[in-house]
Amino acid sequence: MALRNIMEQGEKCLEKHCRPVTEFNEKLHTLLDDMAETLMKANGVGLAAPQVGILRRVVLVLETNVPEEEDDYIIELINPEIIEKSGQQAGPEGCLSVPGVFGWVERPDHVRVRAQDRNGEWFEVEGDGLTARAFCHELDHLEGILFTSLADHIMSEEELGEYYGVGDQIEED
Ligand code: CO
Repeated sequence: MALRNIMEQGEKCLEKHCRPVTEFNEKLHTLLDDMAETLMKANGVGLAAPQVGILRRVVLVLETNVPEEEDDYIIELINPEIIEKSGQQAGPEGCLSVPGVFGWVERPDHVRVRAQDRNGEWFEVEGDGLTARAFCHELDHLEGILFTSLADHIMSEEELGEYYGVGDQIEED
């Protein structure tokens, strides 16, 4: 496994439509493993392939809605699509490709995603709250969309402080 460089806003790879994955081979598995290492090192809750310069439909989302005694785990999604969404949430959203910036973004509160796993098998997965937000955010990356273009407004430090309370960890996708 190796760390990959995370591209930042302004790089063209973050503005492109990504192509489907057609080969579920070792190269894909290496990309997924590298992305997982990169995501954990960056302390994010999601990462999309274009963020490491690869224009393919591959994303990782960290499932954080787990029982207290269990660890968060990474969901690998290849060629994902949202097939169901419901509810609504509004709150701060960030991105590892837009460091230090948070915007107020509305998202569905619940989504169901259909995707392939690293071996090409189709599966469905659901997410609520932060996980639903991460699914939406990461899938947007595959269309070249950054949260900054969806945000109602970019949040000031003061506003963030009021929202999170002082000293709380802020999570970036
Ligand atoms: Co992002």
